[in-house]
Amino acid sequence: MTWPRPAGPLVLRPPTPDGLDQVLAWRNRPEVTRWLLRTEVDPDAFRSAWLSTDDPHSHSGLADLDGVVVGTGSLWVRDAMGQTQGDAWRGAEASIGYLVDPAHAGRGYATAIAGALLELAFAELGLHRVTAGCFAANTASWRVMEKLGLRREQHGVGDSWHAELGWVDGYTYGMLAEEWRGRPGG
Ligand SMILES: CC(C)(COP(=O)(O)OP(=O)(O)OC[C@H]1O[C@@H](n2cnc3c(N)ncnc32)[C@H](O)[C@@H]1OP(=O)(O)O)[C@@H](O)C(=O)NCCC(=O)NCCS
Repeated sequence: MTWPRPAGPLVLRPPTPDGLDQVLAWRNRPEVTRWLLRTEVDPDAFRSAWLSTDDPHSHSGLADLDGVVVGTGSLWVRDAMGQTQGDAWRGAEASIGYLVDPAHAGRGYATAIAGALLELAFAELGLHRVTAGCFAANTASWRVMEKLGLRREQHGVGDSWHAELGWVDGYTYGMLAEEWRGRPGG
């Protein structure tokens, strides 16, 4: 049971053609693409990627507020770093990503979406660790991670390429399963 999944006042649910059309109404706006790695998307390719995915390591949902799609949340499982002896590290880690319609920004929705992705990772998938990265200048994004208790593990100086700004700083955040279980209110 990956979706539907409550996310604060929102519900993360499977993609539908209508829901994806709602996302496409704002997905390519400059205030959304400014700090994304995958900037503008082709609508047809976007729809078919969301609707045809059968990758068991990829979990992407639409964030629904009473029938209005206000955001998206994604989680990608991958191997952690590990020695070849044993396989505890295989599929033990995930990265997460989130987008919110600018018309609905600043209301805690990304925090709710990312919180639901952490719950998916740790409570349902039993993962060991979750990470997320962003441009250092994307304050709203790293505020979301810090509000959820993720730790800034890397400040990469000039490690991230931005099409307009050139080489800029990036942050990587991380959280372990035991930290999630021990979080305040957890
Ligand atoms: C980043 C994004 C997901 C945030 O969504 P959101 O729903 O507005 O986030 P929330 O309301 O949950 O939290 C945002 C926090 O950042 C703060 N914030 C936003 N802009 C800020 C700024 N310029 N300076 C300081 N704080 C800022 C908000 O005040 C809030 O923190 P608070 O609750 O302590 O006040 C959304 O703006 C977005 O989709 N942006 C475009 C895509 C993107 O960059 N995605 C992340 C890729 S790494």
